[in-house]
Amino acid sequence: MQSPESQFCTFTVAEELAFGMENLGLPQNEMKRRISQILDAVGLPGLEDRRLSTLSGGQKQKIAIAAVLVMSPKILLLDEPTANLDPVSRKEILDLILNLQRERLFTVIIVEHNIAEIIDAVDSLTVFDENGAVISTGCMESDKTLVIPELEPETTGFAPPDSSEPILEIKNLSFSYPGMDMPVLADFDLSINRGDFLAVLGANGTGKTTLLKLIFQILKQNSGQISFQNKPVSSIRKKTLYESMGLVFQNPEDQFVANTVHDEMFFSLKRTRTSREVKEARIKDMLSRFHLEETLEKSPFILSQGQKRRLSVAVMLLTGQKLLFLDEPTFGQDHENREELMKDMQTLAADGVTGVMITHDLSLVQRYASRVVEISDGKVLYDMPAEQYFLPERGL
Ligand SMILES: Nc1ncnc2c1ncn2[C@@H]1O[C@H](COP(=O)(O)OP(=O)(O)OP(=O)(O)O)[C@@H](O)[C@H]1O
Ligand SMILES: [Mg+2]
Repeated sequence: MQSPESQFCTFTVAEELAFGMENLGLPQNEMKRRISQILDAVGLPGLEDRRLSTLSGGQKQKIAIAAVLVMSPKILLLDEPTANLDPVSRKEILDLILNLQRERLFTVIIVEHNIAEIIDAVDSLTVFDENGAVISTGCMESDKTLVIPELEPETTGFAPPDSSEPILEIKNLSFSYPGMDMPVLADFDLSINRGDFLAVLGANGTGKTTLLKLIFQILKQNSGQISFQNKPVSSIRKKTLYESMGLVFQNPEDQFVANTVHDEMFFSLKRTRTSREVKEARIKDMLSRFHLEETLEKSPFILSQGQKRRLSVAVMLLTGQKLLFLDEPTFGQDHENREELMKDMQTLAADGVTGVMITHDLSLVQRYASRVVEISDGKVLYDMPAEQYFLPERGL
């Protein structure tokens, strides 16, 4: 399924991988063997005893895929299986699926927005329009142009801000999860400047989401400082902190609080001191910008993944914070929605809003971000203007 969490039915990695095989009645040692083999194949060796709730977004997705592959299915249905994966993992997982498919000759049906990398391996393609009608099916060659969007030529992102006035500063930050040997972040330093549109990159499980949780004090660091406008975030009242900085969670459902889309948006405007009419007008405008008009009276929890993602971003853009953090805001979005979201971020940046976006989508980063920070091994590996990050000699 598109959202890995919705299909987990056990507590640990090994239990989840064994679940289907138990139903097939496979012997214990065969299950053990297959589990260790598939964990190697998806790049998560030795994780048998980890609790699923402690995996990163991308790690969850890999386990969800592993749990079906391990059963040697005859037909494999995949709903955007790589939306949360970093580019290297994405290629590895797609190659794994395609190799297994060739080896064992099973059928694969895959729902995807990002198809450039798999298109050559695909035998037939079906395209739906926004009303669910099939607009084309069958022959590959004639359909390719329909679904592979022409990207705008190599434009560069925002110009970096003229001055570098830090709005958020992180110094010597270290953090490890209780009971884990390896720290996730170790002596981590980063300074976010007013007016940045900063892209944060890094492989699955490097600690990007953890970093956001530390900034918002959902987790407490072991050592080091995080300061917002020169004040330690630990000394700022939660309410004040959340009025100053906004966060779009990696999993949209984690942030929904109301029973309808309308109420969800209204809730986020609660603290804004304007009349009801003005609020309703802003909601209406936001709904239409994010193509959510039809969903007004629906529960946020029953929307499609793409709609949930758009709602979670729209809700945050309503509130007028000066510093916004978005954890993979474009996953599950088609090309048009991704571009629109980025244009919205550009508009906000022009209004003086600082944006920090965690993403695995390098093409968006290249075209929209002003600065790139890549995290590896608990530290900042690269920190440079986007233009420089993508210079051809760096071989990306
Ligand atoms: N509660 C927890 N207990 C133990 N380990 C955890 C916990 N939460 C996360 N981890 C581990 O910490 C590491 C960093 O996780 P994090 O979610 O920050 O990664 P990420 O960079 O956001 O990855 P992704 O790109 O997959 O979303 C991962 O190896 C993850 O398995
Ligand atoms: Mg994450």
